[in-house]
Amino acid sequence: MDAGVWRGRSVLITGHTGFKGSWLALWLSESGAKVNGFALPPNSTPNHWDLLRLDASDNRGDVRDFDRLSSVFARTRPEIVFHLAAQPLVRRSYRDPLETWSTNVLGTANVLEACRRTESVRAVLAVTTDKVYENREWAWGYRENDPLGGHDPYGASKAACELVVESYGKSFFQADDAPLLASVRAGNVVGGGDWSEDRLVPDLVRAAATGRPLEIRSPQATRPWQHVLDCLRGYLMLGAELLAGNRACAEPWNFGPDAADNLAVEEILRRLKRYWPDLDWRRTADTRPHEANLLYLDNAKAKAKLGWRPAWNIDQCLSATAQWYKHYYRTGRVISRQQLDEYRLVSKRIKAACRHTEFGATVAFGNRVQQDPGVSLRAAAG
Ligand SMILES: NC(=O)c1ccc[n+]([C@@H]2O[C@H](COP(=O)([O-])OP(=O)(O)OC[C@H]3O[C@@H](n4cnc5c(N)ncnc54)[C@H](O)[C@@H]3O)[C@@H](O)[C@H]2O)c1
Repeated sequence: MDAGVWRGRSVLITGHTGFKGSWLALWLSESGAKVNGFALPPNSTPNHWDLLRLDASDNRGDVRDFDRLSSVFARTRPEIVFHLAAQPLVRRSYRDPLETWSTNVLGTANVLEACRRTESVRAVLAVTTDKVYENREWAWGYRENDPLGGHDPYGASKAACELVVESYGKSFFQADDAPLLASVRAGNVVGGGDWSEDRLVPDLVRAAATGRPLEIRSPQATRPWQHVLDCLRGYLMLGAELLAGNRACAEPWNFGPDAADNLAVEEILRRLKRYWPDLDWRRTADTRPHEANLLYLDNAKAKAKLGWRPAWNIDQCLSATAQWYKHYYRTGRVISRQQLDEYRLVSKRIKAACRHTEFGATVAFGNRVQQDPGVSLRAAAG
């Protein structure tokens, strides 16, 4: 991805006050974009958005309020929209299903409708999740063409977002001058600056700050863990393709970690403790509502077609996360810019390796190694 792609572009991020949205706003603003946000106020104190103090247009509102949302589209005239605003928590979705369904589904429809009515918009990424797939407790990863489904209101509402996206794509975004629209499904994202409720790392950080052990209810639940910057690099690479008018990219994409980084909760804790010895936890009886045990994402398509791959493995991801929180609690300051710079250096090396892949022969395909189907096409195209 050429960093120059973003210079001077008007970008709208919904959910910029949240964990992922604030990192995305940082990355885009460091890349020279004009960053505009639309979201509710941050939901914790402290929070990453306020700590970053970015020079961005910070608009507050509810994605269910179409008039307010439209007025921000009209004023900011974005070329690309990253739609992240959502009720993203599984347990909260059991407590408040209607808020979850309305925010996630109606909110997505409102954003896509605003995109349809705003002439400047050329590309849209709708962020869903790994939980959109009908979970079969498979020991292998879900692919983009596997059936959608959902058990808890969060996963099901995000699967419904996928239908909204597909419907808008087919009904309204087919014309040559229509925006290109894609959905993106990432894994369990970790990194500094997340203080959400009911998420493993933030819960652990809060417990450590108060000197108490964290109670772990599903130590064997396995998830596709990845650093927030890996997932965002996928969004940005895809966004650049959509802005370049690459129609083949206007479809769903998984951006998950490599298979080796699909780990059980307790293994994540053990590894995190290497970088943050103060962390402590204990197992307790599982009294929570249903959540999947096994959940993997197949990232082969993004590797083969976009040349994306994770730049940090799970240990680099956990080490950076521990370093971020330890530094924050020691100094009150964030090291997000430094971490972004470090990450970008590593990802440049990955890009060089991918260039080799494009003209070479093989890429890792899930657990197998196969011919990259894109290679022969690209080679044929010169
Ligand atoms: N964090 C993860 O591990 C993960 C994994 C897969 C997918 N996702 C998806 O990524 C996106 C961002 O997640 P996050 O982890 O940053 O969550 P977060 O809770 O930190 O941020 C959510 C953002 O959405 C905004 N928001 C919520 N309800 C809103 C409403 N009604 N109107 C306007 N704004 C509203 C919040 O203000 C906040 O800015 C979500 O769509 C989530 O489903 C997250």
